[in-house]
Amino acid sequence: MSTTHTSKLLQNLWDQSHATSLDEPGRLLYRSNLLGSDKRITNFGGGNTSAKVSMPDPLSGKDTTVLWVKGSGGDVGTMKLDGFATLYQDKLNALRELYRGVDYEDEMVAYLPHCTFDLNPRASSIDTPLHAYVPKAHVDHMHPDAIIAIAASADGESLTKEIFGNDIGWLPWKRPGYELGLWLGKYCEDNPHARGVILGSHGLFTWADTAEDCYAVTLEIINQSISWLGKKTSNQMAFGKACHPVLTATRRQEVAQQLMPEIRGLISGEQYKVGHFDDSPAVLEFVCSEQMPGLAALGTSCPDHFLRTKIRPLIVSFDPASDDLDSTVNELPTALSQYRDEYAGYYERCKHADSPAMRDPNAVVYLVPGVGMITFAKDKSTARISAEFYTNAINVMRESSAVSTYCGLPEQEAFDIEYWLLEEAKLQRMPKSKSLAGRVAFVTGGAGGIGSATAQRFLSEGACVVLADIDANLLTETHLQLSELYGGDVVRKVLMDVTDENQVIQAFNDTAVEFGGVDILVSNAGIASSAAVEDTTLELWNKNMDILSTGYFLVSREAFKMLRRQSLGGAVVFIASKNALAASPGASAYCTAKAAEVHLARCLALEGASGGIRVNVVNPDAVLQGSKIWTGEWLQQRADAYGKDAEGLQAHYLERSLLKRAVLPEDVAEATYFLASDASAKSTGNIINVDAGNVQSFTR
Ligand SMILES: NC(=O)c1ccc[n+]([C@@H]2O[C@H](COP(=O)([O-])OP(=O)(O)OC[C@H]3O[C@@H](n4cnc5c(N)ncnc54)[C@H](O)[C@@H]3O)[C@@H](O)[C@H]2O)c1
Ligand SMILES: [Zn+2]
Repeated sequence: MSTTHTSKLLQNLWDQSHATSLDEPGRLLYRSNLLGSDKRITNFGGGNTSAKVSMPDPLSGKDTTVLWVKGSGGDVGTMKLDGFATLYQDKLNALRELYRGVDYEDEMVAYLPHCTFDLNPRASSIDTPLHAYVPKAHVDHMHPDAIIAIAASADGESLTKEIFGNDIGWLPWKRPGYELGLWLGKYCEDNPHARGVILGSHGLFTWADTAEDCYAVTLEIINQSISWLGKKTSNQMAFGKACHPVLTATRRQEVAQQLMPEIRGLISGEQYKVGHFDDSPAVLEFVCSEQMPGLAALGTSCPDHFLRTKIRPLIVSFDPASDDLDSTVNELPTALSQYRDEYAGYYERCKHADSPAMRDPNAVVYLVPGVGMITFAKDKSTARISAEFYTNAINVMRESSAVSTYCGLPEQEAFDIEYWLLEEAKLQRMPKSKSLAGRVAFVTGGAGGIGSATAQRFLSEGACVVLADIDANLLTETHLQLSELYGGDVVRKVLMDVTDENQVIQAFNDTAVEFGGVDILVSNAGIASSAAVEDTTLELWNKNMDILSTGYFLVSREAFKMLRRQSLGGAVVFIASKNALAASPGASAYCTAKAAEVHLARCLALEGASGGIRVNVVNPDAVLQGSKIWTGEWLQQRADAYGKDAEGLQAHYLERSLLKRAVLPEDVAEATYFLASDASAKSTGNIINVDAGNVQSFTR
């Protein structure tokens, strides 16, 4: 997001011929997706839309009015029709009779399921009454930066009047819920010509009689604010004057590489955290500015913003002018524990008798002067989205402090949203986290057969994965496949040769910036070669040693450095080979290099134990399917060695195994997953054979 983000006007993208081909719920979905496709209109997951549609009742067949309103969870930009809750409007109206007043408004939520139309399983959101009681067919509720800038200004009400006259009204801050729904309904009835309302410290409500008009009104109102703010702020320095230099892009990355594993180690006590780094122009302008410390301390305004970013960010004490990173790193433990103490203080000051227990007191957003913004959350998407939200908050603070005085939400109000029992219930409904949630895995040879199967196994357990490989095409292909399956947030690729020291160091540095650190290394990149010893050239010998032995050393060393910095323990798994234990004819270079891997693993298990770093080995054998090794000359050489053709060779291996079964990449991946996960928390220095049984490789 750039500084100029709010200076451009929104375009009306409505396609009337497409819209007329849709039914009313279809048009509502179309409008919602259009609105949500532009982050200037609403932030990810923020806002909701509705339409009151006449439909036949499934029991009586008689027409009845149904409120279609975005349900709990999801995002208007990407939602599908099943993201809407549907409720009988007349039953919603009847709820008014049951309302006992604002002190009891939360109990109204329990009545909403009773109003469900057509057994729709989508849960209604807390915002449902805000749509139900506006007596208009179509209602949009958005969180546009350009409107929140007004909504979060000290004199927001008079600015609203100045910009919009009588078109748009003002309602002071009120936590979303039943009472606010009644306020909105009353406002609309008292002001039949108004086209919407700005909610103090929150966002925008707009309404109209048709889907098309509602979309147009929403855009028009936001554009009006964008233009007004643009005129007011065109000649101003944002955030006072700059008081820190912006470091070069390279240096910013370096600082982030150093800081992120340190922070991650200090905040992952209760739950592993994944990091995200953002040094976009809007962020840099803010973190280098004179007003940053004061504004950051005020906290964010829109409830969505602080639910994602915590009430306020942590400012890392780093002076880009002197660039003394060591002192910053030394001060981190104190700074982070001070933040936790302050958060605990906020919890204690604001809690009620029935408040849920204090949640993780660590900061989500870390602002680093001259460098950018680091965010940490339970998974990559949440960390990335938290950064997006704080960027929204920066935009709001910039515009608001240019035209007025920016106000954060009062502490107690923020607390009441953060620890709202209804919010807690939503958290309790979330699925249990997966076994590798928050973990970061680095897989060498990640584009190959066993490597990609392992990556997939880890991703399915919630890990973030870096695929490192020397084969650019295969890497791109594997990366694409896995991103399609698990989403682009959780998988990264890095083109890297395990024998190149600098490339390995760089790849781990990149991992630190992409995800915040590393927890699991799978050293798997490999080749196979075959030659009688008298025909083994020094070159062939060295190649095996370089990739299989030295390569395993280099990636382990870099992983160890990062694991030690985090102090969270870790798991290293070597994919060696049956041939590490069993001599095989005509493959002395390969077998010897594989044997070296096993012994390296044992040495590292010894060294890593004190830091909780476990090192174990998986020994596969004859994994023909999916393996690139088995498509090249190795296949031919092995087939020749046993006097078979390709198919005969597969049968030969199967027959040779004790269990008479073919070994698949997924089988190797399963053993690797076991050794990488907490299921094997008490195993180190071990070997698991995945070779369908081979007496030669029984360990002793
Ligand atoms: N497939 C088997 O039967 C078998 C048996 C025993 C051991 N292994 C071991 O399993 C590991 C994975 O093998 P696979 O069967 O998946 O083979 P594969 O060829 O499908 O995968 C190996 C990957 O390593 C990559 N690679 C090779 N040299 C590299 C380098 N210098 N830097 C970075 N990446 C490099 C390749 O590009 C490839 O993507 C290897 O270490 C291999 O020795 C395989
Ligand atoms: Zn809202």
